[in-house]
Amino acid sequence: MKTTPRTGSGSTLNEKEKVQKRHLIFDQRPRKDKESLFGRSEELNKLINALHAKSWVAVLGPRMAGKTSLAWAGANAFAEEMKYNVIFVDLRNAETSRQATEKILSRLPKSILDALSKYIAEVSFSARDVSASVKLRENAAAKNALEDALFALKDTILILDEVQNVKQGVNNFLKALATAFNENDSLLVIFTGSYAGVVKKLFEATHKDSLYGRPPIEILLSPWPEWVAAEFLRKGFEQCDVNVTQREIQETIWRLGTLPGWLNLYGLRRCLRTSHEESLQRVFEKAVNEALKELEHFLEGRSPKAREVIKRLVYGATWGELEKTGIPKDTLSRLLDALTKELFIVVKDEIGVYKFSDPIYRYAAERLPILIVTTTPS
Ligand SMILES: Nc1ncnc2c1ncn2[C@@H]1O[C@H](COP(=O)(O)OP(=O)(O)OP(=O)(O)O)[C@@H](O)[C@H]1O
Ligand SMILES: [Mg+2]
Repeated sequence: MKTTPRTGSGSTLNEKEKVQKRHLIFDQRPRKDKESLFGRSEELNKLINALHAKSWVAVLGPRMAGKTSLAWAGANAFAEEMKYNVIFVDLRNAETSRQATEKILSRLPKSILDALSKYIAEVSFSARDVSASVKLRENAAAKNALEDALFALKDTILILDEVQNVKQGVNNFLKALATAFNENDSLLVIFTGSYAGVVKKLFEATHKDSLYGRPPIEILLSPWPEWVAAEFLRKGFEQCDVNVTQREIQETIWRLGTLPGWLNLYGLRRCLRTSHEESLQRVFEKAVNEALKELEHFLEGRSPKAREVIKRLVYGATWGELEKTGIPKDTLSRLLDALTKELFIVVKDEIGVYKFSDPIYRYAAERLPILIVTTTPS
């Protein structure tokens, strides 16, 4: 007979389970349940209420704001109450609607895949990954496969993470989703994206076609207010029994800002007993490097004046001051729109000064190299 081993030193299994279930304040993985999501109760309620109203939802916000965590936690809370399933699809590397469809299919239960066999050339399982990898038949239309798959999903929440990467064939991708929205009442979709503008454009395009009943409800994740960030750090350090000073907390928020992801990384390092200075420096460098890459990516294909504008934003600048770079008015207007409403990294204050909303992007912009345009004599 199989027996359950007793744990030593008088601790019971129940206690052990409790310890395992205890939620860590600092945790490198996305949060998956509402108990481990810190300081987002308003956004979480909005998400759960939207799902109850059968709305689809778009979770938007800058990098490291906790979009994936909110989507998971909200979906799992709703699913537990309503007996739904949750399917998570990471679309970060899916650039075409065909790749996105294959990724979605690879997450579906075998019973649904069997019913879709006319579209599928190959299903393979890798040893390390629990999910399958699906290849569509060459002559199969991805849109039809996706439509049939989405139709077959009952009582399910589908999380499409980082949906903005799907560019090629995006109209067909959205049409399949729109059909599902109209025809399958028990399928709910949560989209997440770091480039809100791109995500919104996706929906506007579909909305104009009047394929959608309604566009998804938007939930914008902003950086935390400072007091929430300080509370998060304090609670985390209490949990892992590390003494920190008020000055260290202040300095951390001052340099890293209040996006949960960076504070979480700093907290993790300190809980591993790395010093304040080293933890802060390491996370700061990583964050600034990532922000720098993002800014470079954003500037690709834009005029060199756009780079100058971004450099001026480091110290804060009014519209008039930014115009002095020589950038045309309409280009400046589009640029500021993108920075404020798509990437959420720039804000305009009450006296009309545009500036970075987050210190990490401010430092990254400071490091952004100025391009010297050289003209070769003909
Ligand atoms: N509300 C929160 N409470 C506690 N930790 C959080 C919260 N939100 C995010 N985190 C932590 O921050 C990190 C980044 O979170 P997450 O991956 O959800 O963010 P994201 O916005 O999806 O990031 P990315 O832009 O890289 O996709 C994770 O380690 C996660 O555990
Ligand atoms: Mg994410």
